[in-house]
Amino acid sequence: MRALILGGAGFVGLHLADRLVADGHTVTIVDDFSRGRDDERIGALRAHPAVDVRSADLTSTRAWAELPHGYDQIYLLAAVVGVRNVEADPARVIRVNTLTALHLLDWVHPGERIFFSSTSEVYAGGVGAGIVAVPTAEDVPVMVADVTSPRFAYAISKLLGEAAFIHGAAAKDCTAVVGRFHNVYGPRMGTDHVIPEMALRALGGEDPFRVWGADQYRAFCHVDDAVEAMLRLMACPQVTGEVVHIGDDTAETNIADLAHLVLDLAGVSPSIERLPAPPGSVTRRCPDLGKLRRLTGFEPTVPLAEGVRRTFEWYRDRLDRTGTAAGPDGTGPDGIGAVPRQPAPLTSPTR
Ligand SMILES: NC(=O)c1ccc[n+]([C@@H]2O[C@H](COP(=O)([O-])OP(=O)(O)OC[C@H]3O[C@@H](n4cnc5c(N)ncnc54)[C@H](O)[C@@H]3O)[C@@H](O)[C@H]2O)c1
Repeated sequence: MRALILGGAGFVGLHLADRLVADGHTVTIVDDFSRGRDDERIGALRAHPAVDVRSADLTSTRAWAELPHGYDQIYLLAAVVGVRNVEADPARVIRVNTLTALHLLDWVHPGERIFFSSTSEVYAGGVGAGIVAVPTAEDVPVMVADVTSPRFAYAISKLLGEAAFIHGAAAKDCTAVVGRFHNVYGPRMGTDHVIPEMALRALGGEDPFRVWGADQYRAFCHVDDAVEAMLRLMACPQVTGEVVHIGDDTAETNIADLAHLVLDLAGVSPSIERLPAPPGSVTRRCPDLGKLRRLTGFEPTVPLAEGVRRTFEWYRDRLDRTGTAAGPDGTGPDGIGAVPRQPAPLTSPTR
C-alpha cells in the first residue's frame, strides 16, 4: 500500500508514518517544516527505503504539480495549529488550512482515498453556548460563537475543509472521510499541549505549580489510538463523505487530577496554584465514539496513566539529552523546547 502523508513531519503525521512503515507500507511525507521538525525521527524515516520525505509548501500550486500520483491513501494533516499560532496570525491559519485543502481537491485523481483531519473545535461554540451535549456525537450543530475572535479562525478553516471534502471528493470520483480529533497527545507533540507543558514545568521544579482550569474535564486520546482509528477508517472505502469523531471516551479527566499524575511521575509535590481557565475554552470535552465503533470496531487501548507516563518519559529523556535550547518559537530542534515562560492555555483550539 502506498500512502501520502501531507504534513507528515508533524506530531500525528510522524506517528502515522512510523506505524505505516512498521506495517510494511510505502510512505511519502510532504511537509514545509514550518512546525514539524526535520529531527532525528524524520532522519530515521528518510534513511528507510520505503520512505520518501519531501520538503514543499502545500499552499503553492507548484508543489502540487511536482507531486506524483498513484497513492492508495492520502492523509491531509498539514495545517497551522496551536493556540499561539492561531491567535498570533489568524489570517495565515485561514490561508494555509484552506489552500492546502482546496489544492488537494484540485490535484486528486479519481479513485484516490483521502483522510481530512478536522477538530472538535468546530462544535466547541455550541458546547460553550449550552446547546451541544457532552459526550458529543457527529450530528450536533457546528457553531462559531464569534467570527471576529481570532481563535475561531481555526474552526472556520476546518469547517470549510470538512464541507470541501464531503462535497468535493465525490465530484472528483474520490472517496474521503473526515476525522475530528479530540485531544490527541503523545511524544513529540511540541510544547503547547497541556500534557507536555505540565511535564516540562514539573521537571523544571515549578513551585507553586500553576494549574489553569483545574475544574475542567478532557478525554485525552493517546496518539497510537488515534492512528489506529485513522487506519481503520481508511480501510473502509464504503465510509465516504462521513464525519467521524476520533478520541478516547473511556475516561474524562479532571485537569487537577492530570496535574497530580504528571507531578507524581516527576517525583515532586509542590503546592498547587489554581488559576482561571483560558477564555473561550470549554469546561468539558469528550467525544461520543458510537459511530467510530459501529463503522470500524475501534476501541481505545492506551489508558491515560500509561500514555501520560510514556509521554512524560519521552520529554524527560529529550530534556536530559538536549538541555533547554529552544528555537525562535520556543520549540527546540527535536520538537522540545525550554520551559515556556508564558503558560500554555489549558487546551489550544487544536487540541
Ligand atoms: N493533535 C491534536 O490533538 C489535533 C486535534 C484536532 C485536530 N488536529 C488536526 O490534525 C492535524 C495534525 O495535527 P498535529 O497535531 O500533528 O499538528 P502539527 O502542527 O504537529 O502537524 C502539522 C504539520 O503540517 C505542516 N505544515 C503546515 N503548513 C504547511 C504547508 N503550507 N505545507 C506543508 N506542510 C505544512 C507543519 O510543518 C506540521 O509538520 C492538523 O490538521 C490538526 O489541525 C489535531
